[in-house]
Amino acid sequence: MDISEKYWVLETANTAYTFGLNQAGYLVHCYWGKKLSDLSHYPSPAESLGWASFNGPTQVLQEEYPAYGGMCFHEPCLKITFPDGVRDVVLKFDSARQVADELVICLRDGYYPLRVELHYRTHPAYDLIERWAEVFNKGDQAFTLERAFSTQWQLPPDAQYHLTHLTGRWNDEFQIVREPLTSGTKVLESRRITSSHHHNPWFRLDDGRASETQGPVWFGGLAWSGNWKLAAEVTNFGTTRLSLGINDWDFAWRLNGGESFVTPPALAGFSDEGYGAASRKLHDFIREQVLPHGPISHKVLYNSWEATFFDVDLESQSRLAEIAAGLGVELFVMDDGWFNGRKNDAAGLGDWWPDPHKFPHGLQPLIRHVNNLGMEFGLWIEPEMVNPDSQLYRAHPDWILHFPTRPPSLGRNQCILNLARLDVQEYLLETIDRLLNENNIAFIKWDMNRNVSEPGWPDAPADPRELWVRYVQGLYRVWGELRQRHPNVIWQSCSGGGGRTDLGILRLADQVWVSDNTHPIDRLSIQAGFSLAYPANIMEAWVTDADRGKLPLAFRFHVSMCGSLGIGGDLLEWSEQERSEATDWIARYKSVRDVIQLGDLFRLAPGVIQYLGKDQKRGVVFAFQTGQTPVDAAVKIQLQGLVPDWNYEIEGFAGKHPGSLWMSRGFDGQLGQNQSMLCEISVSEA
Ligand code: DGJ
Repeated sequence: MDISEKYWVLETANTAYTFGLNQAGYLVHCYWGKKLSDLSHYPSPAESLGWASFNGPTQVLQEEYPAYGGMCFHEPCLKITFPDGVRDVVLKFDSARQVADELVICLRDGYYPLRVELHYRTHPAYDLIERWAEVFNKGDQAFTLERAFSTQWQLPPDAQYHLTHLTGRWNDEFQIVREPLTSGTKVLESRRITSSHHHNPWFRLDDGRASETQGPVWFGGLAWSGNWKLAAEVTNFGTTRLSLGINDWDFAWRLNGGESFVTPPALAGFSDEGYGAASRKLHDFIREQVLPHGPISHKVLYNSWEATFFDVDLESQSRLAEIAAGLGVELFVMDDGWFNGRKNDAAGLGDWWPDPHKFPHGLQPLIRHVNNLGMEFGLWIEPEMVNPDSQLYRAHPDWILHFPTRPPSLGRNQCILNLARLDVQEYLLETIDRLLNENNIAFIKWDMNRNVSEPGWPDAPADPRELWVRYVQGLYRVWGELRQRHPNVIWQSCSGGGGRTDLGILRLADQVWVSDNTHPIDRLSIQAGFSLAYPANIMEAWVTDADRGKLPLAFRFHVSMCGSLGIGGDLLEWSEQERSEATDWIARYKSVRDVIQLGDLFRLAPGVIQYLGKDQKRGVVFAFQTGQTPVDAAVKIQLQGLVPDWNYEIEGFAGKHPGSLWMSRGFDGQLGQNQSMLCEISVSEA
């Protein structure tokens, strides 16, 4: 970083991002791409007077953090109403400071006591830049924030971009869409109080030159688990800009004198080595810098949901646990149904103690049994929810999100607790803390099974529209505090599958339940989308009874082995033959799981995925024939990432050959319809 000349250069291992003050005093983005050999090669900030009489300079310039004011018709990052009703922000450069690896640019309004600090942090090893903003009210009268985005990323001008994003719905998350951006604004967002199944706060942009292995790619995401918005705007002046932040839909924040508002961080990176490298940078960053336990691999778990649904008790769970242990499962998770009054999905949420009929002696007898079988014990909870049929609701009907004049809409017979309220936060902290103190619980699956309605907060001490943000802050506080009190517990984020997967929740959750859809072929495309952004160790994937008898057990295992393997079928129904084959696959998975969960991912072709250990000595290739490619044609498998002059062996294919040959000539996989293949890569001479 260089702050001497009002021009700043943020460099990572391979990239640079620069901006500076132009002569008119605008903070203008200058460059984002491959690192150049000399600082003097980076372009200077553009100057502009505007365009005819219809567009002011800010419309034409690529500002780093545009505010709504003056002649601003494009997407701004900041919108404020001052106490006198003025809705016009004019930010001028004030100062810059550098603190360790963080650059802070301070801007201020010339008239109102408004100060904005833009924070930039580089993550050199991952070629990533992290940005967030802090908005200060330095006066004594409150003003209202109506939009406070984290960032506006400016792309190199005069190019036509394609936006890739992940879209879907419950049971069908993470579907990949790549579409051209044309004049105007493409908006992706969530208004659902979570990041949502429908769009994921992740993006990738390319200018048509990129492939899986080469070409320029810009990518990133937002670390926020509530309402968010991405606006990708193509202007009429040859520029493309992507704004990202907390959604301004129904948002307002009363910023009192002396207070500040901090936006969540946005992360973005550049790679000129194609889509694959972009994913790997993000995977490494998430594993090494975001996840609370760092880059760890996860145990093979069993989850009881699809076997017993709400019918859990000591006997049903013990029988499943005994079989699971015999297969080599390491963690037994009891899902929904165990707590007070939970006979079906219409009762019990909120009352987080064992149901006295199902577990008359509490959870301890089951946990002891599971532990004696050599497994750890995990439990499902859904803390943010309450059923009207529960002791909690009867005691505190006012704790839910609601408008007093409207009946609350139910989703799955439940209401959402208002986590913006301190008393709700305290209740959850106390109840879940007790559960964890009283029982030997190694794993918690934190679920959330509906989206918002009637987002009311009667008697709110602030603007009630602050709810959207304060809810998420409350969630982060409760979960963060529980993590601190129970640092060894592994937490899974679930929202009816992958409805809350984002860089924000991953600071609290060690892994994600990716989708309720466990049909292996559907799952392949869900996992492909997920893995564009998120690493394999957080991708929990179960082998269930979906397509049992239709698809070979090997195929079903191979799909789930591409992530963090779990089993979710009704094991009582599995034949001896199935159990024995499952035992072999689980053992096999354990022998390669570090390579899968913590190694590098390469997408070799549709349905062909390679994982390579960080030492490049061991790897695994999975190939799936789902009918997308001609069944009778051989699948050409050209490996990636090997050391060219080391000799490698590929399981099932004769010969020891240099990495260069396996990568250029490759080998042919022959797969019939619905067949799959797993082969290990191992170095024979390094
Ligand atoms: C939704 C989750 O995605 C499922 O795995 C299961 O935990 C159910 N909720 C339980 O209600």
